[in-house]
Amino acid sequence: MTIHSQADLLTPATDAQVAQALDVAVAQVRANLPHFTYRAQNHSSVNNIYPAVENDQWTAGFWPGEIWLAYEATGDKTFRHAGQIHVQSFLHRIVNRIETDHHDMGFLYNPSCIAAFKLAGDEDARKAALLAADQLVERFHEVGGFIQAWGRMSEPGNYRYIIDCLLNLPLLYWAARETGNPRYREIARIHAATTLKHSIRPDDSTYHTFFMDPATGAPSHGATKQGYRDDSSWARGQAWGIYGMALCYRHEGRPEYMQAFDRLLAYYLKRLPQDLVPYWDLIFTEGDEPRDSSSAAIVACGLLEMADLVDDAARAEELRTTARRMVASLIDNYAVKDPSTSNGLVLHGTYSKKSPYNTCRGEGVDECVAWGDYYYMEALTRLSRPWSSYWW
Ligand code: GLY
Repeated sequence: MTIHSQADLLTPATDAQVAQALDVAVAQVRANLPHFTYRAQNHSSVNNIYPAVENDQWTAGFWPGEIWLAYEATGDKTFRHAGQIHVQSFLHRIVNRIETDHHDMGFLYNPSCIAAFKLAGDEDARKAALLAADQLVERFHEVGGFIQAWGRMSEPGNYRYIIDCLLNLPLLYWAARETGNPRYREIARIHAATTLKHSIRPDDSTYHTFFMDPATGAPSHGATKQGYRDDSSWARGQAWGIYGMALCYRHEGRPEYMQAFDRLLAYYLKRLPQDLVPYWDLIFTEGDEPRDSSSAAIVACGLLEMADLVDDAARAEELRTTARRMVASLIDNYAVKDPSTSNGLVLHGTYSKKSPYNTCRGEGVDECVAWGDYYYMEALTRLSRPWSSYWW
């Protein structure tokens, strides 16, 4: 696939720009350590400032992930020490099952604990991540072949998965390798196949959430929670799909995941405004609706992941160049330049915007969002050096 779109109009970020942006991000992480070493960072900022909260949200893994990326960038043991303090909080959380009635174990435990195990050999981190993988296994439904996203397992109204869950599967692939138990991998494989089959519409846009029939396991219907409408494509859902399909391709090596990646990416690129940062739902291509800068950071990481996997050198180069264009836009127009105005890294993210048709609570609109900051740093790191991913 050749990428032709608005994406060709922006100049790709140079190595020097990437290095400088990473320095700025690391300085911001360092400045945040006193506030967020023994507390977690809220899922999104309030007037561009993150409050400190308890470790009980689905997003709590991203801030420790930033700490580990800062450690990799600098080798400074201050970061390693802070990252290991967070490991204890994550171990406590999974042992005591604090706010774990959901599927976001990968988002929580890959950037916090798998990173800590990889980079510091922290055995408590390994233990916590394996317990989190066990919790994810408990959410698997044989009937329908999927991991349930939210809520109690016994409630029929919760019988659905969401496209975001593709980013939780790497925890299972990791656990299979760590333990030698193929069951983790099997569940990831089945869930990925279910997502591939039902979450992508014929026009290559995606459903955010998808319900299955609890009695038969037959596909029921797609619906949104955080997108604009059931039949629109939530920008971040499409972004999770793009990065998620690249990760499925890495783990499963089956061409249909690469094809799905291409389809989702082509749809996403067609719906971008000139600066390559989408509106919060891809139904919007111009006007005053808020952007979601975090989607751009996630997609850039997905492109860089796939660039490492394709055989065709020209295609890999094209994917990397497109990622660099997206990152250039984030650096120039969205990254925090003045730390006195924000303790985040990237402005103009959207967590959940209420629409007349969706079912979310409006929160974190036009704010920094924890995963936007993390994936921005991951993209900068990937562009700076060969990187041993926290997602595999
Ligand atoms: N996974 C939830 C979100 O992206 O908002």
